[in-house]
Amino acid sequence: MDFFQYKNNQLMAENLLVSQIVKEYGTPAYIYSKATLVRHWNAFNDALGEHPHLICFAVKSNPNIAILNIMATLGSGFDIVSQGELERVLVAGGDPKKVVFSGVAKSVTEITRALEVGIRCFNVESLSELYRINDIAKKLGKKAPISLRVNPDVDAHTHPYISTGLKENKFGVTVERAREVYNIAKQLEYIEIEGLDCHIGSQLTELQPFLDATDRLVILIKQLEQDGIQLKHLDLGGGLGVTYTDEKAPLPSEYAKTIFEKLKGYENLEIILEPGRAITANAGILVTKVEYLKTNEERHFAIVDAGMNDMLRPALYQAYMNIIEVDRSLERETRIYDVVGPICETSDFLGKQRQLAIAEGDFIAQRSAGAYGASMASNYNSRPLAIEIMVDDDKSHLIKRRASFEELWRLEALVK
Ligand code: LLP
Repeated sequence: MDFFQYKNNQLMAENLLVSQIVKEYGTPAYIYSKATLVRHWNAFNDALGEHPHLICFAVKSNPNIAILNIMATLGSGFDIVSQGELERVLVAGGDPKKVVFSGVAKSVTEITRALEVGIRCFNVESLSELYRINDIAKKLGKKAPISLRVNPDVDAHTHPYISTGLKENKFGVTVERAREVYNIAKQLEYIEIEGLDCHIGSQLTELQPFLDATDRLVILIKQLEQDGIQLKHLDLGGGLGVTYTDEKAPLPSEYAKTIFEKLKGYENLEIILEPGRAITANAGILVTKVEYLKTNEERHFAIVDAGMNDMLRPALYQAYMNIIEVDRSLERETRIYDVVGPICETSDFLGKQRQLAIAEGDFIAQRSAGAYGASMASNYNSRPLAIEIMVDDDKSHLIKRRASFEELWRLEALVK
């Protein structure tokens, strides 16, 4: 459930009219609902209930510091994949002791910084990384907390670009190899084994792949016990899907129930989850203005002021995201439109063949845009990034302003 609903045919963000917000701030604009973010985070936290657990919000889904700050205030942990994300978490008031560091290519600088600030755990992706972390920890005279990211070889039944748990993917080490790597880790003086980690993909709409993965991890946990390696936590990653159209995504409570069944006898093993999309996707919309309507022999086009640089998901994953009118009280003819942006590429669309009642100058909103929207945006075609606005009840806050044109080339220099 989210807090973007119609009232008298006007789209509301909590208790504000979306049309008023964009008249004040301009478009393209991401609008987020604080109440929705809080509700989604709590759904995960409550689902795990009394079982020891930590919800580590996946920063990559939406790294705006205002969002990270809301998460930090809730007591959230964070899943990061770069030093940039770490610095954002710190600036936003996040607790480094609740940060897990994922990612396949952690650099020396990144590992050093993470050790200095004292993160909760490195999710190690290879033997080489393990040795690198041990070396750096030695130089700093610290012990590095680690878990090994295991690739359980299960099919997540999601888009191939966001599926990560198959042997053909670059992530983690195989279950077969993991036992050996843990035993090496045990010998390393500056490594402290904390847990076991896995992330099999994103936008999963079935629980079965998670359960298959957990089964394999439990077998490994038992083998490690035989080797005298006692784990403190199990990190099951992110990946729980959301409803973009008519998908039936499992609820966090359903997910948690099935995890508990799989972990009978491990009531003290802390569970870490790294949800991103399930918290942010439906907590945000992308609002755009219809600049032109154009018709040729084949199609009607709604040409809008947001493009694939603002929202890449349709172009990159053929993602289907709902598009709705901001004001349904207006008298408009209904037509089937391809909603396209200003970028000079045919892949530049927000949605194809959408029924909309619109005229030039109207606003429309792409739903479920809070995850991997602003975070994957670029300045392609030298377009300043969309602004971001947080709505909290009947107040709006500009949480990212539009850059000036000078700021677009501020880091560049002429050849002297
Ligand atoms: N943990 C790790 C290690 C991850 O790689 C990811 C996402 C997550 C957690 C969070 O997954 P979530 O709960 O958000 O599904 N850009 C794509 C999604 C890429 C996901 C990458 N990893 C999209 O727009 O669909």
